Amino acid sequence: MPAGLSAEKIRLLGEYLRLTSESRVLDIACGKGGPALILAATYGCRVHGVEIRPAFAEAARARAAALGLESLIQVQTADASGLQFEPETWDAALCLGASFVWGTIADAAAALLPLVAGNGRALELGIGTGRIAVPLAQRGVPVHGIELSKAMAARLRAKPGGEDIGVTIGDFATTRVEGTFSVAYLVFNTIMNLTTQAAQVACFRNVAALLDVGGCFVIEVGVPGLQRLPPGETIHAFHVSETRWGIDEYDVARQGLTSHHFEIVDGRLERFAVPFRYAWPAELDLMAQLAGMRLRERWTGWNREPFTSNSRKHVSVWEKPAI
Ligand SMILES: C[S@@+](CC[C@H](N)C(=O)[O-])C[C@H]1O[C@@H](n2cnc3c(N)ncnc32)[C@H](O)[C@@H]1O
Repeated sequence: MPAGLSAEKIRLLGEYLRLTSESRVLDIACGKGGPALILAATYGCRVHGVEIRPAFAEAARARAAALGLESLIQVQTADASGLQFEPETWDAALCLGASFVWGTIADAAAALLPLVAGNGRALELGIGTGRIAVPLAQRGVPVHGIELSKAMAARLRAKPGGEDIGVTIGDFATTRVEGTFSVAYLVFNTIMNLTTQAAQVACFRNVAALLDVGGCFVIEVGVPGLQRLPPGETIHAFHVSETRWGIDEYDVARQGLTSHHFEIVDGRLERFAVPFRYAWPAELDLMAQLAGMRLRERWTGWNREPFTSNSRKHVSVWEKPAI
């Protein structure tokens, strides 16, 4: 088993990958079959291992036979970097602790992603200047964006790597784009830029229409900060310094929030305000349900920290089920 992996982590990986007895898994550099045996024994999935060292490959076959898993596990003795597999033939493609087969982790992702069923395309709503999209595309994920602002899209295109990312100019609540996606994501509180409930519901519906079956919609957004408002107050200062001030103004009856920004630049006060509509996680779940999706995971942050009563934001994942 590669260093840092335990049987428990492998089983968790299988759970995240939603493996079942129907799944077909490719395990590159499978060694003596440690992870492959655990996945096949736990989920009943088929695993095709590739291993360059004949002795390791033989050991993997022998262990599979000893556990009665030989019908599920097949081990090919070969140099994986030279193999050509049919695109989109696997439900999961693993390369645990051996991305050096191709070079970097990005090279490994680029080699393996096309092999996995589902088109692997990602859609970023409100792609902005490509803070997320550019590095994602550089790791081999095909990304397309929807963006309202032509100026933001122009800044994205001007970045190295940005010119290859397709952007459709329009409102992500309603704009349709070509094809379907394995994942759509809307980060950095941007769902709140839609200032009516109807627009937020339309956004969930739009995403559901653009996702593959089994595809996911990921949102990163703050939990409404009403606990920080004393009764009757509407103002919360979120940033105070010598030269910059940020104040949130709540309109609780309308679930409205205006973020006021003030900054002294070159001796002059600059000011702008952005209107938002905040929504509780449960309301977003209901929007997902209206759009035919269901909650798969909710975390406090990108490192899968548990979501609790004290969480100030959440990363939520809804999936489009097969019905
Ligand atoms: C906070 S920025 C985030 C940019 C990028 N997603 C990131 O994380 O770096 C929000 C972006 O969403 C865009 N945006 C806001 N409302 C939108 C809408 N209804 N349709 C399309 N784009 C929108 C803005 O122009 C801006 O580029």
